[in-house]
Amino acid sequence: MIEDTLLVQLAKDYGTPLYVYDGDEVVARYNSFLKAFKSRYKKTKVMYAVKANSSLALLRLLAKQGCGADVVSGGELFIARKAGIKSEDIIFTSSSKTVQELELALEEDVIVTHGNVSELLTFSSIAEERGKTARICFRVNPDVSSKTHPKIATGLKNSKFGLHLEGDIALKAYEKALELNGVKPIGVHAHIGSQIHESQAFEEAVSKLMDFAVMLKKELGVELDFIDLGGGLGISHQGEKTLTPKEFAEAILPNFLNGLEDLSNEPYLYLEPGRYIVGPAGVLLTKVNSVKKTPYKNFVNVDAGFNTLARPTLYDAYHHMTVLGKSGNEELVDVAGNVCESGDILGRDRSLPKTSVGDIISIKDCGAYGFAMASEYNSQPLPCEVLVRGGIGELIRTRRSYSDLIAEQRIPEDLK
Ligand code: LLP
Repeated sequence: MIEDTLLVQLAKDYGTPLYVYDGDEVVARYNSFLKAFKSRYKKTKVMYAVKANSSLALLRLLAKQGCGADVVSGGELFIARKAGIKSEDIIFTSSSKTVQELELALEEDVIVTHGNVSELLTFSSIAEERGKTARICFRVNPDVSSKTHPKIATGLKNSKFGLHLEGDIALKAYEKALELNGVKPIGVHAHIGSQIHESQAFEEAVSKLMDFAVMLKKELGVELDFIDLGGGLGISHQGEKTLTPKEFAEAILPNFLNGLEDLSNEPYLYLEPGRYIVGPAGVLLTKVNSVKKTPYKNFVNVDAGFNTLARPTLYDAYHHMTVLGKSGNEELVDVAGNVCESGDILGRDRSLPKTSVGDIISIKDCGAYGFAMASEYNSQPLPCEVLVRGGIGELIRTRRSYSDLIAEQRIPEDLK
């Protein structure tokens, strides 16, 4: 936990809006997640979901712990490699990849997850042309329903992700891959959704995945090197009950270990947590620009908006807030963002100590899907980021400037 006095100082030094991450907490969360599984199944690898937070310094910190990466674009793959994550510890899982991305994956020699056969065909011909054999796997759709926001549930049968187990669709994809040159299927992948608090859907997905692994062995003689269960472990935003890594491991490992009994080898278990590792380790600091009382509501207008933190607007997500250096004397307010849209409310009906212009509000649990989803909508330059380790904060990304906003733009000659 970073002390409030340090947060106030960082806001003064670097300005707001400002993302601040607790590096020690990131490392501790990574280790506790890994330990929960590794102590029960030795061949476990954590492939951190880079999409949650792809800041280079943070990835570097995780790379130094020996963490792997789940990437979803050429950009994430590039950053993960720059951060020092080894090729063999990277899995590239997006539902739609360009030829350039597939070429990069081949060059970097990472595992590629396909969610359809059409992409497999493209990849196999690229690899064959270059005389290479790429390691691949398929993402399967386990058709399980997880209790989460519909926009982040991915394991349902009408979702765009993965190959269905029904009708042997996934099995036939493996059969096809075995016939092709340039690719070798070595694993299976599933990810059922994100911000999940209960184990039931995970347990179901694991059991379906293990049955499928057994079928692959029996029908096609495929021995998998790894079984990837994706990410999705939720975090608590307002005291709601969620699973600890230990509870999560204890819930899903029995089905995994059960399934192993019918396999002749011991595959690696891959897990792809994103939010769990970085979410609670980050805060967004925003300054109060002005306050306003109306006959209906009180508003606190801040210098961040849904361009800085999209989650409240996009998923109706609750992020807890405190006013640094203040307590008591509370009033009910809406913390309103600076984007010119009425949907830009970062916190609705919050009881906060009476705020004044210049106060700093700390928005909790913003380490995951915070900066990573930020945009420059309304031409607000992207904020900067600070990493705190051992009580010392260091700037890891400078704030973009107004000139950065136009740096890549060109005015046609005749308009000059
Ligand atoms: N693996 C795959 C293939 C994924 O698609 C995801 C997240 C993860 C792992 C990591 O899931 P996590 O452990 O972080 O739950 N922007 C949304 C979350 C989108 C998650 C997309 N996929 C949010 O802010 O809630």
